[in-house]
Amino acid sequence: MTYLVIGAGPAGLAAIRSLKEAGLAVEAAERNADVGGQWLYGAQSSAVYASTHLISSKATTAFSDFPMPQEWPAYPSRIQIEEYFKNYAKHFGLYPLIRFNDGVAKLERSGSGWRATFDKGETRDYEAVVIANGHLSDPLLPNVPGNFSGTVMHAKEYKSPEIFDGKRVLICGMGNTGCDIVVDAIHRAKSVLWSVRGGNHFVPKFIAGKPADVRNHNTKLVLPKWLRSMLHEPAARLLAGPPERFGLPKPTHRLYDRTPIVNSLVLLHLGQGDAAVHKPIKSVEGSTVIFEDDKRDEADIIVFATGYKITFPFLGELSPLNWQPQFGAPRLYMNVFPPEDNGLFVAGLLEGAGVGWPGRALQTDLIAAYLKARKEKPAAAQEFRREIERYCAAPANKDRGEHGIFVDFLQDKRDLKRAIERLG
Ligand SMILES: Cc1cc2nc3c(=O)[nH]c(=O)nc-3n(C[C@H](O)[C@H](O)[C@H](O)COP(=O)(O)OP(=O)(O)OC[C@H]3O[C@@H](n4cnc5c(N)ncnc54)[C@H](O)[C@@H]3O)c2cc1C
Ligand SMILES: NC(=O)c1ccc[n+]([C@@H]2O[C@H](COP(=O)([O-])OP(=O)(O)OC[C@H]3O[C@@H](n4cnc5c(N)ncnc54)[C@H](OP(=O)(O)O)[C@@H]3O)[C@@H](O)[C@H]2O)c1
Repeated sequence: MTYLVIGAGPAGLAAIRSLKEAGLAVEAAERNADVGGQWLYGAQSSAVYASTHLISSKATTAFSDFPMPQEWPAYPSRIQIEEYFKNYAKHFGLYPLIRFNDGVAKLERSGSGWRATFDKGETRDYEAVVIANGHLSDPLLPNVPGNFSGTVMHAKEYKSPEIFDGKRVLICGMGNTGCDIVVDAIHRAKSVLWSVRGGNHFVPKFIAGKPADVRNHNTKLVLPKWLRSMLHEPAARLLAGPPERFGLPKPTHRLYDRTPIVNSLVLLHLGQGDAAVHKPIKSVEGSTVIFEDDKRDEADIIVFATGYKITFPFLGELSPLNWQPQFGAPRLYMNVFPPEDNGLFVAGLLEGAGVGWPGRALQTDLIAAYLKARKEKPAAAQEFRREIERYCAAPANKDRGEHGIFVDFLQDKRDLKRAIERLG
């Protein structure tokens, strides 16, 4: 029997490779025309815009046995990352295992396995399925009352800044996407408004000319994240500057409880008065935007950089993934394993600065180790299943973010490595 991987983005590629190297028969389906997922610029699944550079440095982000070229900058561009994934798939012989331009339209149970129906109509049966469909492709839009006379778009549709030429632009949202688009807009627009809700920590890309995240990884000692937050938060506030000094909300969470903003330019622009910060939007009327404090301003374009929904459109019902409506996400052991032993695994469904692609590869190595252990070491596999069930039955941890999928990169990688060792 064959295993199916859905998606050939970073997590899907890691999954194909892990299963292949474990000697398991694997094939993959990718709806796009090539590999790379988010990094295949212009593909239907991609939210990457022309100016995107990594926010995690190349040393911490690249797969550990496939480093990015030495001559590349510390934070490569999306053009380089797209090339990186094509080279990765070539190098490890993954292309022949992937069917392109043909996604999984439907996944339903078939005996003890799963039947996939592809976009082009073919059906095939699989023993188990690794779902690596990404979670930054389905836009989340707030419900704003009123009729806006200008252009409204989600950041997913935003590609390059010439659309801002001479326009009054409003960007809504202060994730890393919102920050990048504010910087893009400042160079082209007539005026830039920025509507923000919650606060977040800012960390610089470089400290003393070196990528700021590298030293976080060079540690054998995994301190609890609250302690690391206490130690590093004052440094981040000192080096990047406290966000509230630039008119942004003060973060109410600790540094390592969410992905921080890694953007050294946006605070500089705020300090220069290049953008005006506003409260969340209350309503719109014609070209007028009314904010929650009843201030008003004018805009020609609104870009909602307000995040993404987690979706699995090919599954008729989500209970096999232990779906939690209150989180809008499944609850999975190590973000991978549902409590039911049903042959479904999820790869890449995580938030967490520092996880990079090595963190995704550890997830897929664990899936491969588990699938092998089921055949070769049933006692170890059974013990692992009990771990899964215990975790999924326990109350959800409160510090795992809005969707409950946030991981601390140091703890996560350590836990994944230990689990792989336990399964042999
Ligand atoms: C602008 C931007 C910048 C980012 N920067 C960083 C960064 O600096 N560092 C970092 O670590 N992460 C970054 N990320 C996060 C990024 O999502 C990950 O790097 C990575 O792409 C996630 O890989 P993935 O394989 O889980 O998902 P994706 O890259 O989204 O890939 C999912 C793939 O599944 C395919 N697919 C979906 N549904 C189906 C289906 N039904 N059938 C077949 N195929 C399907 C899609 O076509 C896609 O190719 C960034 C994201 C964005 C949007
Ligand atoms: N250059 C890069 O490498 C790069 C660039 C972009 C994105 N990324 C990564 O991609 C992922 C997605 O990032 P993202 O920025 O698209 O999404 P995100 O991290 O989910 O951020 C969404 C933002 O929108 C805000 N928001 C939601 N509804 C709002 C409303 N009604 N009014 C005002 N603000 C509202 C949220 O505020 P609250 O905090 O209040 O919820 C949050 O600040 C992240 O992992 C990110 O790090 C990386």
